[in-house]
Amino acid sequence: MSHSPVTWQLDGQVGVITIDNPPVNALSQAVRAGLLAAVEQLEVDADCRAIVIQCAGRTFVAGADVREFGLPPSEPYLPDLLNRIEACSLPVVVAVHGTALGGGFELALAGHYRIAHVGAKLGLPEVTLGVIPGAGGTQRLPRAAGFATALQMATSGRPEPAAALAESGVIDRLFDGDIEQLAAAALAYAEQLVASAAPVRPLSGLAVSSDGSEAATIETTRIALNKRSRGQRAPLAALESVANSLTMSFSDGLAAERELFLACRNSPQSTAMRHAFFAERATAKVAATEGAAPLAVNKVGVIGAGTMGSGIAMCFASAGFEVVLLELSAENLQRGLNTIADRYADAVKKGRITAEQRAANIGRVTGSCDYSDFADVDLVVEAAFESMAVKREIFTKLDEVCKPSAILATNTSYLDVDEIAAVTQRPAQVVGMHFFSPAHVMKLLEVVNAKQTSAESLATAMAVGKKIGKIAVAVGVCYGFVGNRMYSAYGREANRLLLEGATPEQIDSAMTDWGMAMGPLSVADLSGIDIGYKARGERQPAIDDPLYFLPANRLAEAGLLGQKTGSGFYHYGDSGKQPNPQALELIRAAAAEQAVPQRSYSAEQISQRLLAALVNEGCRILDEGIAERASDIDVIWLNGYGFPRHRGGPMCCADEIGLNNVLATVEACAAEPGDRYWAPSPLLSQLAASGATLADYTAG
Ligand code: COA
Repeated sequence: MSHSPVTWQLDGQVGVITIDNPPVNALSQAVRAGLLAAVEQLEVDADCRAIVIQCAGRTFVAGADVREFGLPPSEPYLPDLLNRIEACSLPVVVAVHGTALGGGFELALAGHYRIAHVGAKLGLPEVTLGVIPGAGGTQRLPRAAGFATALQMATSGRPEPAAALAESGVIDRLFDGDIEQLAAAALAYAEQLVASAAPVRPLSGLAVSSDGSEAATIETTRIALNKRSRGQRAPLAALESVANSLTMSFSDGLAAERELFLACRNSPQSTAMRHAFFAERATAKVAATEGAAPLAVNKVGVIGAGTMGSGIAMCFASAGFEVVLLELSAENLQRGLNTIADRYADAVKKGRITAEQRAANIGRVTGSCDYSDFADVDLVVEAAFESMAVKREIFTKLDEVCKPSAILATNTSYLDVDEIAAVTQRPAQVVGMHFFSPAHVMKLLEVVNAKQTSAESLATAMAVGKKIGKIAVAVGVCYGFVGNRMYSAYGREANRLLLEGATPEQIDSAMTDWGMAMGPLSVADLSGIDIGYKARGERQPAIDDPLYFLPANRLAEAGLLGQKTGSGFYHYGDSGKQPNPQALELIRAAAAEQAVPQRSYSAEQISQRLLAALVNEGCRILDEGIAERASDIDVIWLNGYGFPRHRGGPMCCADEIGLNNVLATVEACAAEPGDRYWAPSPLLSQLAASGATLADYTAG
């Protein structure tokens, strides 16, 4: 028994089965086999009158073992195991703590009675991995929770707190004592069931209750999913499967669910979404921090109370850090503090935090106009004006006032962190922490490992990033780091397509139909066309290609700056966003003046070309060691740039399309007369020639 992750023993009349499969008690083959053996043996044990299934460690079962998804299935299969548990002739009590997700929630539903710790969450997150529940979740949950709740949970993937599920009847008992006492409470519950001769209660024996509103609920959900999960197959398959529970017998519903599950599991979308899941966890493994322990950080200074700085201050305050927010003018400081108070008030209004949490978060932020208030902070994040002169001055000052152990971070999006570090006496303690706007919402954090940054400082910035709920990705120093450098290549190509005859609407809709959250020209309008224009102007050495971002430059020079001026690549008026003839005229005039031949592009050509621009630049970044692995680049694009999760990120997508095909697009563009930017990345050429993939690439 010692090697099995599942153990069981008889406690009085109750057989207690414990799953202990760290870190998250995933339902690996060994767990499934152990559970089956345990239930079968306890059921025939004459002294056993009821069974409890519980988990050791920090959580109940967090799902099927995602690592087994790509492998041939091995027995016992989860659906069979759960049917067997449900068919057990003894009452089965399932005790849930932490998170019961996917197969874990399905296991709980296969039991006859459920007790949950009040802090537990239960859910069916399969759609976030491109699949649907495959072991009865879509059939048992509607029988337990009601149709509407089940439909919502299975299609959104969002877990629900145990208390909410107790209301809808899924959880029979809520346990609000010490989590360590849950096992005793579950045992007591089972003993009571034995004493009262409680029957087994298989959910499969119930019908889904109907109040006649289901058809309308299905339609509303379908419309919402087509909008929210555009292009994704799994949410619609989950909808279909839950809907089957209304019209099919339990066993037919189960068979149909299995078919839908397998079709989803074998799809490239699921491969991409599983890639994203593991890629996001792999970012924490950074070679440069090996052996280094993060330093303790309790108090944080933030410089700049503008949109970015106040958002950054909120990230820290919400995570329990003490924050000193610094601005030179009292007026700007007050504006920043007001913004923070307003945003937290909004979060209360939306039910995301309580009024008490708002007060506590605000209480953790102290405003200051005096650098000496930074004397005892452990970390500073500078989010001041994006100018090297300004940053140099600030870091010189910080170096004087901050305690010697303090780490100094800059939130610069483009500037050279090595140059900033060089003005201090502590370059080993200077890093970049590049937040994305709005900082209190966006999950991505690029942590910039500058030339002299120590392993300890990098480890600290990564650990702090995780504590504030970000997905932190370590990157090296270059212009724009990973995300913005690639975005530049992408934007440059979008501008090039405009010059060659494509319209803003064609380009944007090609990309949104392909799955991007927004098209590149709508993004430019939203962020302000002047922002990129100024950044390009300041960049040294200046780029001397007259075609480089020419359409955007012409618009900026004509005062068409995007949404803020009501006119950019689009026109924004009373009737919303419309094509902008004035912009098109400027673009066509620029093309004529530069004698750029006009042609037409299909949506597929547009998306292929823009993706190839991303991948080619991504390969250069990888080759230069700016990113440690291709999947880190994917994580950046998924979490910072609205890249569709079901395509896994640009590098994952390139593997899926085939690197030789991506290279062919790059080479075709490079062969166009006058091209300056499309030289294939040597790494892309090399990997394509050897038939290798980006997923398998490790720098060496
Ligand atoms: N299968 C295999 N491994 C899993 C897993 C699963 N279902 N869920 C988590 N893990 C692994 C992670 O890869 C990570 O491994 P690593 O330490 O080698 O990187 C480890 O367990 C810890 O996970 P992590 O997400 O870092 O921990 P957390 O405490 O932040 O979150 C969960 C815990 C359970 C909430 C989160 O892991 C999760 O959402 N898991 C997926 C649940 C799911 O989708 N289940 C349905 C599967 S069909």
